[in-house]
Amino acid sequence: MKSITPEAGRAALQALIKEGSPLGPLKIMAKYVGRFFQIPLPMFKPFVVFGPEANRKVLVTERDKVLWRNTDPVTDLLRRGVLIVDGEEHDHYRKLMEPPLHPSQLPNYTDMMIRQTERVTSQWKDGDTVDMLVESRKIALLIIMQTLFSKDAWNDLPLIWTPILKAIAYISPGMWIIWRRMPRPGFKKHLKTLDDYLYRLIADRRLGAFEPDLLQHLIDAGLTDDVIRDQMLTMLIAGHDTSTALLAWTFALLGQHPDVHQRVIQEVDTLDKSPLLDQVIKESLRLYPPIHIGNRRIAEEMEFTEGNVPRDERMFYSIYLTHRDPEIWENAESFCPERFAHGRKTPPFSYVPFGGGPRACIGAAFGQAEARIVMAHLLRNYKFEFTNHKIHPHMGATLEPRPGVKFTVVARRR
Ligand code: HEM
Repeated sequence: MKSITPEAGRAALQALIKEGSPLGPLKIMAKYVGRFFQIPLPMFKPFVVFGPEANRKVLVTERDKVLWRNTDPVTDLLRRGVLIVDGEEHDHYRKLMEPPLHPSQLPNYTDMMIRQTERVTSQWKDGDTVDMLVESRKIALLIIMQTLFSKDAWNDLPLIWTPILKAIAYISPGMWIIWRRMPRPGFKKHLKTLDDYLYRLIADRRLGAFEPDLLQHLIDAGLTDDVIRDQMLTMLIAGHDTSTALLAWTFALLGQHPDVHQRVIQEVDTLDKSPLLDQVIKESLRLYPPIHIGNRRIAEEMEFTEGNVPRDERMFYSIYLTHRDPEIWENAESFCPERFAHGRKTPPFSYVPFGGGPRACIGAAFGQAEARIVMAHLLRNYKFEFTNHKIHPHMGATLEPRPGVKFTVVARRR
């Protein structure tokens, strides 16, 4: 492993101050040190790897050498959720949850996705300024609750909104990474509200009618209420916070690129399926992958071209750095949806917004379909005027556009 020179250290610090986010320093480390480095924080020195070779090893060929989680707030909150556990236990839960998200099921969700989007837009008045980070979260929450639990959550939004934001804040990176047992006041009450809500859904279903959804699969498999709650909370958070970020970033990019915005509107107005919108969504996932790193613990020493990661160390594979590597992408920092035009291919494991291998995102097809349907519907029915404010990526549980994505909206009367 190349060592970090004082010059690289200074540049990383400057980037941290300038961008106010660790993404800048990560890019500096990648530039000066390469595709394998260690972050020199006090008491926390994770390895970072990226690029096709590392991604392939971590996700597929040597995935048995890594475990998914340490003990951290993510594990505290999601307990035995499919995202956390390894081995047979993981494979069992995953198999139970795949059927409702299978690509063959997606057409069944289209009308519902549009209906839930309209619920949210029905509150907009012409000339309102709306934050598409907030509005996208409402839409994504309603859609995921309806899909997985057959629950129309419209009337419950006031009850669960703050608890969900608190749950997301609880698992977002913070000082607890280096100070594992730091006191974290202000969460308990809200997390209990969310738990009570999920346990009530389970109890109601046990007494109520059959629904062909994910909750039913979990109940029919004979899982305990606690384990069902863990899977529900995992899917609720993983399945809506990512979609929220994807929709919000896609709006941000359209706001910043009015020429592409206009061309997408023309396409969605005239075509059933807009190839340009697909490309914009793909490019949004490249530039701002909602899950920008994968977090692993090393169970057996791993060898990379540039060095080894010993057992028990923490390691991140960086989706963000892979997606911005100038050796893979021409004009890596530029927004260029056409790079995904039909027929153009990227090398394997160089585009990994949904991870890869047997533990690739369970909702990859669903999340992309949702983004296409919701975006097309919104663009067909509303004129979005960007308010031209600055936006920067914030490393929360997902990569979020901060301080939001604000547009003035006017209904289109076509
Ligand atoms: C729309 C945007 C989405 C993005 C960008 C995304 C991204 C990802 C990524 C990168 C991983 C792998 C992480 C790693 O290797 O450490 C992952 C896993 C996962 N995602 Fe997604 N996701 C999205 C939507 C969804 C949806 C809609 C759901 C559920 C309905 C979902 C549920 C999950 C679960 C449960 C896992 C863990 C799978 C396992 O360990 O077997 N995601 N996602």
